[in-house]
Amino acid sequence: MPRRKVEFFSLSFLDVVCCGFGAVILVFTILNAVFGGSYRPVTDELRGEVDKLEEEVLEGHQDLVELRNSVRETAHESVLASGLSRRLIETLTEVQEELATYEASTLAKREHVEKLKTDIKTLEEEMKRLSAAAPAEETPGDRLRSFVGDGDRQYLTGLKVGGRRILILVDTSASMLGDDVVNVVRRRNLADPMKLRSPKWRQAVATVDWITTQFPRDSSFQIYGFSTKAGTIVPGTDGQWLDAGSREVLDGAVQHLRKLVPAGGRMVGVYSCGGAYYAIEDRCSHDDGPLCEGDWEPELCIVVCPRHGSRFDLQTGIPMTLPAFESVPTYPVTVRGDGVVVVEVPD
Ligand code: FES
Repeated sequence: MPRRKVEFFSLSFLDVVCCGFGAVILVFTILNAVFGGSYRPVTDELRGEVDKLEEEVLEGHQDLVELRNSVRETAHESVLASGLSRRLIETLTEVQEELATYEASTLAKREHVEKLKTDIKTLEEEMKRLSAAAPAEETPGDRLRSFVGDGDRQYLTGLKVGGRRILILVDTSASMLGDDVVNVVRRRNLADPMKLRSPKWRQAVATVDWITTQFPRDSSFQIYGFSTKAGTIVPGTDGQWLDAGSREVLDGAVQHLRKLVPAGGRMVGVYSCGGAYYAIEDRCSHDDGPLCEGDWEPELCIVVCPRHGSRFDLQTGIPMTLPAFESVPTYPVTVRGDGVVVVEVPD
C-alpha cells in the first residue's frame, strides 16, 4: 500500500504565517501605544503657531494697505494746499495792483479837487469884483415886497423880471384844481375853501406872488385870469396898468388872486383820424369819467371811455354802446396856414 504523501505547506505552514503576521501586528500596536500619543500635541501646537503667524501676516498686510492709503491722502492734500497757496499769491498780487491803481486815481482826484477849489476861489473873487463895479441898473420889486410862502425859494429859476409893463396871465379854470382829470372832476364838486387848498392852484398863486416881488419899482403891471373868459384879477381895472411901485397895489392884486376860486373851463381831446381832426369834450356823459384818457379806435374814429367802456363817435359824440346814452359835445377843428390846430369852443 502506497504511503500517503505528506503536504508540508498545508495547515501548519499557514499557522506559522498567521502567527508571524499576528506577531507583527502586535508589535506595531505596542509601538503605537507607546509613541503614537506624544505626536498629536506636538502637531496641534505647531498648527496653532502657524495660525497665529498667518493672523499676524494678515494684520500686517492690512496695516500696509492703510499706510499706503494714508500716504496717498497726504499726497493729495499736499497738492490741494499747494494749489490754494498759488491762488492766494495770485489774489494778493491782484489786490496789490488794484491798490496801486486806486492810489494813483485818488491822487489824481485830489489834484482835480484842489484845482476846482482854486477855480471857485478865483470865480468868487471875480464875482466880487464885478458886483462892486456893476451899476445899480434896476430897483427890483423885492425891495418893496418880500415873499414868504412855502419858503423863500425861487419859483421860476433863471427868470429875469423887467420892462416897463409886465402882464401876468393866470389859468383860472377848473383844470387848476388837479394834475389829472380824475382829480379835477373830484375837486370841482368840493366846497370853495377846499378848492382853494388844491396843491396845483396854491403853487400857481405862490408863483404869481413871487413874480410880483421881482417887479422893478418904476414899472406897471396887470394880472389877467382866463378860463372860458378872460378878465383882470383886480375888479374894475380892465384896460388899466397898475403901479408896481406901490406896495398896497401889489398886495391888493395878490390878495384878489388868493380869493379867486378856479372854475369853468373845458377839457377837450383832439384826434387825428381818417385825414381829419376831431375835438370832443374830455368828459363822459355817463358818469363824468375822463373820456380821452382811454383807448380809441383810429380805423373807426371811435373813442372808448376807460371807466365803463362806452364807445363814442368822434365826429358826432353819439354813444355807440351802453351804459352811456347821451351825446358828448364835439367842437369844430380847423388847421391854420401856419399849421396851428384851432378848436372852436363856444362860451
Ligand atoms: S363814465 Fe364813461 S362809461 Fe361810465
